[in-house]
Amino acid sequence: MFMDNKHKIVQVLSDGEFHSGEVIGQQLGISRAAVSEHIKSLSKIGLDIFSITGKGYQLAGGLSLLDLKQIKHNCSVSNELELFPVIPSTNEYLMGLIKSENTLVDGHTVLAECQTKGKGRRGRTWQSPFGTHVYLSQYRTMDNGLSAASGLSLAIGIAVLNTINLFSNKKCQLKWPNDLLVDGKKIAGILVEAEGQADGICHLVIGVGINVDMPAAVASDIDQPWTDLNTITDSLVDRNEFIAKLLEQLEDTYQEYKLNRLNNLFKLWNKNNAFLNQIVELTSTSKVQVGKCLGIDTSGALLLEDLTSKVTSKIFGGEVSLRKKKVVS
Ligand code: BTN
Repeated sequence: MFMDNKHKIVQVLSDGEFHSGEVIGQQLGISRAAVSEHIKSLSKIGLDIFSITGKGYQLAGGLSLLDLKQIKHNCSVSNELELFPVIPSTNEYLMGLIKSENTLVDGHTVLAECQTKGKGRRGRTWQSPFGTHVYLSQYRTMDNGLSAASGLSLAIGIAVLNTINLFSNKKCQLKWPNDLLVDGKKIAGILVEAEGQADGICHLVIGVGINVDMPAAVASDIDQPWTDLNTITDSLVDRNEFIAKLLEQLEDTYQEYKLNRLNNLFKLWNKNNAFLNQIVELTSTSKVQVGKCLGIDTSGALLLEDLTSKVTSKIFGGEVSLRKKKVVS
C-alpha cells in the first residue's frame, strides 16, 4: 500500500524543480536513504523522477495533483469524495466495501492518482499511470434489479461525453456499449459492475477512466488506437476542474435515468453514435455478426440490420465488441 511519505514526496516534487534528498528527508523527518527508497518505488509506478548528484531529485515536467478542496469548490453537487494516491482499482475497492460492511452512501465517489490493477471491460487491463488521467468510481443503488445496470452504463456514456465536449473543441462520440471516441480513437471507457438480485435492490459501481495526458512510456502498452484530452484541446486540461464537471454530469444523468430510464436519453445516445448507419462487425465469444448499425432502442439494445434480409436483430450487452467493418477492395 502507498505510504503517506511517498505522497508527500510527490507533493514536494510536483513543482518540477530540483529538491535535494537531504532537504526532503528533513521536511518529512526521515533519512536520505529512506527518501531514496521511496523514490525508487515511485519510479516503479511510472513517475519520471531523475536525480543529479549535487542537485537532487526532479520530477520531469512537474505534476498537477488531484485536490478534493478544489474539486468541491468547482462543483455544484456534493457527493462524498475519497482520494487515494495509489490503489489497485477504484472499482475493486468499492465492490469490496459493498460485499463487506456496505455503509456506503448513494453517490459516494472514489478517485485515485494511480491504479496498479486498473480493470477494463472484457478482462482487459486499464493503463492507470500516476497523476496524469482520471480514474473515478461511483457507488449507486437501484431498486429494480440488475437489468437496470446495463442501461445505466449507456446513460453514463452520455454524462462522460457531455463533460469531454465541455473541454474539447473536437466532438466526442459514443461506441456501443461503453467507449468514448474522438477522431475514431478511444479517449475514455466505462465499466459498470453490479452486486444484487435480478429483481431486488442492486448495488452498482460505475467506473470511469478518462485519458488526460498519456505518458509515452505507457502508450506503447495500449493495443488499440487512443487519444487524450490534452491532444484534442487548445490548453492543458485541469483534472480537478474536469472532475468537478464530470460529477455534475454524472448526477444529472443518473437522476434522469432513475426517472425515465433511457426513454429520453436513447435519442441523445443515437445522435452521438460513432457508427450510426455504418457497416459494423460485432464479435462475441461464439460468433462474428456483420450488419448495419442502427443505434440503440429504449432498452439499450443495439439494433443491427442484416445486410441481405434487412431483418433487425437486438443485441444485448455482455462480453461483446464492436468495430467498423473494413472494406476489402
Ligand atoms: C473499458 O475497458 O473501456 C473500461 C475502462 C474503465 C476504467 C475505469 S478507471 C476507474 C475504474 N477502476 C477500474 O479499475 N476501472 C474503472
